[in-house]
Amino acid sequence: MTNTDLFTTGRIGTLELPNRLVMAPLTRNRAEADGTPSELMAIQYAQRATAGLIIAEGTTPNPVGQTYPNIPGIHTDSHIAGWRRVTDAVRARGGRMFLQLQHGGRVGHPDNSGLIPVAPSAIALPEPIHTPSGPQPAVTPRALSLAEIQDTIADYATAARNAVAAGFEGVEIHSANGHLPHQFLAGNTNRRTDAYGGSIDNRIRLTLEVVDAAIAAIGADRVGIRIAPGVTVNGIAEDDTDELYAALVAALAERDPAYLHLVFADPENPLYHRIRQLWPTALIANPNLGWGVPLPADGGRAAAEALLAAGADLVSLGRSFLANPDLVERLKIGAPLNPLRDEPLMYVGGPEGYIDYPTLDTATISGPAAVHALSSTAA
Ligand SMILES: Cc1cc2nc3c(=O)[nH]c(=O)nc-3n(C[C@H](O)[C@H](O)[C@H](O)COP(=O)(O)O)c2cc1C
Repeated sequence: MTNTDLFTTGRIGTLELPNRLVMAPLTRNRAEADGTPSELMAIQYAQRATAGLIIAEGTTPNPVGQTYPNIPGIHTDSHIAGWRRVTDAVRARGGRMFLQLQHGGRVGHPDNSGLIPVAPSAIALPEPIHTPSGPQPAVTPRALSLAEIQDTIADYATAARNAVAAGFEGVEIHSANGHLPHQFLAGNTNRRTDAYGGSIDNRIRLTLEVVDAAIAAIGADRVGIRIAPGVTVNGIAEDDTDELYAALVAALAERDPAYLHLVFADPENPLYHRIRQLWPTALIANPNLGWGVPLPADGGRAAAEALLAAGADLVSLGRSFLANPDLVERLKIGAPLNPLRDEPLMYVGGPEGYIDYPTLDTATISGPAAVHALSSTAA
């Protein structure tokens, strides 16, 4: 019988999870300017350690892959040491983490990375991009050469090894939401005429080779993949979503990775069921709770249970975890949820709107007081 209880144990690879609620990756721009994870980040994640699994925010595998300002990296010793502080703090509170590896491709800017962004083809993001001096028009990226593609894949493998060295249980390859691997998948961003463009087999090649390299580096049990079929963020337009993802998921399934993470999973869509049938290991589904509208009062619990009923093994929630450090406990007892605060607070530095969302058993504390109070317990 299908188990729709979010509060029973789950499993990813060899990792046992105390519940089936996953904290979705959430970019919060709180790293140091050089990409080193900050003390605030350790506090923020440690506060959310009761999640069945935390998937840490999109993190850059190499310098040119950086998207926005203050995005964490995982390609220097300082990055590894900073993430180690985060994973230690989460583990001390009984939690476990995967790290999302995010190469932005054309979603990047010289003002952020110091480099011209790279992409499958020289086609600019059709929207402005956030930089330290505010939104700037996107620049046209350079098309990656075949040799650079191999170097990029090798950078993912190194980043995966670095993540394990930093204490993560594994990595999630971000092939969703219009970042580099997704740019290879979609026909409107990939105009290549070599082995990485054109046919579906060619367009899925980069994602598969990145996954293969990560598996070779750290093992299949430690590698998950995030995909977003049909999602149009960051200027993506797929014209063959069903065939594209059926082929990608079938090929990924042969590699037996730890999990597949599906963005905006919709149990009403036949593609969802096709993917579930094709997928041999854990399926993490991220429900579509709607953008630009208030979160449902139940924080997504009903949508999460509907996805478990439709065969998902685990459910990820983003904004509900952002606003509720103790989301698992609140959902379990049906307690009211904190409202989500202003969107600008999501992507600016500092503690406000980041580590000052109250739990049920603490009064609201904010600003430097919160840093002081929580750093003593998170370390
Ligand atoms: C502030 C914010 C940052 C996000 N950052 C990432 C990210 O780094 N990587 C990613 O794959 N998705 C990212 N997302 C998407 C979320 O993981 C999730 O798919 C989305 O918020 C929908 O889930 P929700 O309705 O439960 O919030 C972000 C979303 C928000 C609101």
